Amino acid sequence: MNVNKAELKISAVGPDQYPTGDFPELAFAGRSNVGKSSFINTMTKRKKLAYTSQQPGKTKTLNFFNINDVCYFVDIPGYGYAKVSKKERAAWGRMIEEYLTTRDKLRGVVLLVDARHDPTNDDLLMYDWLKHYEVPILLVLTKIDKINKTQRTKHIKNILDIIELHEEDRYVAFSSETGDGKDQAWKEIRRLLQV
Ligand code: GTP
Ligand code: MG
Repeated sequence: MNVNKAELKISAVGPDQYPTGDFPELAFAGRSNVGKSSFINTMTKRKKLAYTSQQPGKTKTLNFFNINDVCYFVDIPGYGYAKVSKKERAAWGRMIEEYLTTRDKLRGVVLLVDARHDPTNDDLLMYDWLKHYEVPILLVLTKIDKINKTQRTKHIKNILDIIELHEEDRYVAFSSETGDGKDQAWKEIRRLLQV
């Protein structure tokens, strides 16, 4: 998709701040530092639309990005960041859970997992939780540039085996550095959003 417009509509912490209107939405979930914000920037060809950082825990709110006046991409805070207090983690849990379970415009979740490592327990919990709520999922394996080309197929198969990816869910191997997987990711995203 050619992105002519990509702008932050609102940073929300609860339902009364979610945008109104009929745009379908996709949310981007994954461990802190996995590359959610970078993915949004690469897909929209914007360098700093979504804030990225080497420090995990950069994104703290539900950030709704208007894409071409057609849909919203919703960047959500990452999970699994150890330095977050219990209280903060609980608040995070409520904010995300409320969003993912009540938002009727949500057409799916792009779940990002680091291609370099085995999925974490949190990754597996998130996947199973989304399946439980019957949320359509696109699995994106990030930082694929960090894996030697000769190792990629084996690495990917290992990750898919651990996650036990269901037949109805697709996956894309992706790199924000090289743009690998970008066209395929757009295809899958458009399929989920039906735009
Ligand atoms: P939180 O907001 O903390 O949940 O993190 P996030 O998932 O939004 O991660 P972010 O996009 O901020 O990226 C974290 C770090 O990983 C940054 O230093 C990025 O430059 C780097 N990064 C992201 N994607 C890629 C990728 O595809 N390849 C490589 N090599 N680095 C990446
Ligand atoms: Mg982020």
